[in-house]
Amino acid sequence: MNVLTELKRRLAGPLAALTDRPGEALDLVRRGQDPKFGDYQANFAMPLGKQLGRPPREIAAEVVARLDVADLCEPPEVAGPGFINLRLRTAWIAERLAEAVRDERLGVPPVAKPRMFVVDYSAPNVAKPMHVGHIRSTVIGDALCRMLRFAGHRVVSDNHLGDWGTQFGMILYGYRHFRDEAAYRAGPVGELARLYRLVRRLMDYHEGKALLPKLREKLSQQQAALAAERDAAGAKPDKGAAKAIRRAESDVAQTGDQIAQIEAQVKAVDDDPALAQLAARHAEIGAAVLAETAKLHAGDAENLRLWREFLPHCRDEIDRVYRRLGVTFDHVLGESYYHDRLEATVADLLRREIARESNGAICVFLEGQPAPMIVRKQDGAFLYATTDVATIEYRMETWRPDAILYVVDHRQSMHFAQLFATVKRLGYSDVELQHVSFGTVMGDDGRPFRTRSGDTVGLEGLLDEAVERAARIVNENDDAKPGGPELPPEARAQVAERVGIAALKYADLAQNRTSDYVFSYDKMLAMNGNTATYMQYAYARVRSIFARGGIDVDALRASGAAILLDTPAERALGLEILRFGEALDLALLDYRPSQLTTYLFELAGCYSTFFEQCPVLKAETDALRASRLLLCDLTARVIRRGLELLGIEVVEKM
Ligand code: ARG
Repeated sequence: MNVLTELKRRLAGPLAALTDRPGEALDLVRRGQDPKFGDYQANFAMPLGKQLGRPPREIAAEVVARLDVADLCEPPEVAGPGFINLRLRTAWIAERLAEAVRDERLGVPPVAKPRMFVVDYSAPNVAKPMHVGHIRSTVIGDALCRMLRFAGHRVVSDNHLGDWGTQFGMILYGYRHFRDEAAYRAGPVGELARLYRLVRRLMDYHEGKALLPKLREKLSQQQAALAAERDAAGAKPDKGAAKAIRRAESDVAQTGDQIAQIEAQVKAVDDDPALAQLAARHAEIGAAVLAETAKLHAGDAENLRLWREFLPHCRDEIDRVYRRLGVTFDHVLGESYYHDRLEATVADLLRREIARESNGAICVFLEGQPAPMIVRKQDGAFLYATTDVATIEYRMETWRPDAILYVVDHRQSMHFAQLFATVKRLGYSDVELQHVSFGTVMGDDGRPFRTRSGDTVGLEGLLDEAVERAARIVNENDDAKPGGPELPPEARAQVAERVGIAALKYADLAQNRTSDYVFSYDKMLAMNGNTATYMQYAYARVRSIFARGGIDVDALRASGAAILLDTPAERALGLEILRFGEALDLALLDYRPSQLTTYLFELAGCYSTFFEQCPVLKAETDALRASRLLLCDLTARVIRRGLELLGIEVVEKM
């Protein structure tokens, strides 16, 4: 049972007598911060008092008088200016825990009204190597699917693969001009990745060279502007002037950085005779790549044949990452899947006067948007946005979802705002369309995470390094065990893989998803703190009690032993175990897995206190021993289930 939901349900009646907006008031029923003031607190009497022009304490007293919670709470108290403090009856907590012992779902009921969700996540542009940014969408999306399913909703997960974009023009061009046939036969993925990088480099070289004069011009303007600010400010700039100077300085620094970066790229090519020669011979590479992509989209037989040949190799590559991450999809309907529908989609938008022609392009103009959403370029090409409109139509026809969640980088927020506004005008107004956006993964230099050489970090390399570091920790930990190492080498390797991948996933999920976060192996693998390693360790420690005590867990669960919550630590742990459902609700309310990690971390904290204060195997009586073992078992089960909902596996020993 979800305690908070139950309390709100009980409070709704008495509130309805006072206000016609009980929902707002019920949002102010929360878990208490300090056990002194009860387990839950209702703080609505103050705003209600203002609204009704009556003393809050009187309102609180009136609600309490009508409130029927005697079965689950001690008599409610009105405190201070009008807080209603609710303290659960300890016997009631114990009964709910006894039920949870016998329940697969650990006392969390499925939702009363299941909804149908389509979750769009991961969606890398294939043929480019996956990088650190893809981990966020993949891991957050997977966790949301798992949580939604557990909550009882229907979920279709769909990987909207970027399998039709310019990157194919790049490898088509590379394949035609630079391929090493033997290497391609021996390992197509590696060769395609090499071709992608080579073409990228040559394109960057020419684009960079064309851009440099413009950037230098911009820099000298910015330098002049800075000098003017300094002049105007004189010897003692006031606050406003100092701020303007700082801004001008930062503009100069930024452009300077950009120039330095491009110059380095250009120089690296110039300094390599073979590369320099290629660059000279392929001066028009940018336009040629676009032409290859356009030919593919126009149905050119040879380009299509090659695309069909490349795609499975690209898929193998990303599937390997998915297997390691333990992530699966119900559907992988990439952008190419919708290509044949785009013509009709644009025609429909035009016919219904949602889009119109402007400068040769077909555009949807939207109120409150700085720019129109273009669905067809002057040259006839369709765009990312066109595909997304067609995709929504397909999803609505096929699955009739109540909600579609897009787990995508915050930089695409304008795209989604325009997309959602457009499809509303197409008549899809009942469906909840959500951009579940997330921030950028940063390096410790405060910039997007890159390798020392300046490349973005490949996802596989990232996984390898996390696992390697985890292996070191697992080995040290096992070597240091008082009774000698417990894990044979294969087990160590398996544990290291689980611990490493878990650390990476959890570090991502535990962030407030909308913030940027700084990537750090040391932090994510810390044995103490809000990390997967800590949670896995907590789990393994609980399990080791059962091993040490030679306890038959099934028999213990079936024994019907009572749960005793006589000490504060036991009661606090018991209550925390019961809060699992509440944490899940909170996480799903605005699609934040971090609500679940926060809860699990708090649970582990309650368990630590309990374990310090309450002997388990050496408890004074058999009844107490059985009760405490059940609390341990429930803790382990909630941790295990909670981590599973985040896509993270536990280990029995580490
Ligand atoms: N492939 C896109 C990218 O890498 C993300 C696609 C997200 N999903 C969508 N329906 N637009 O930026």
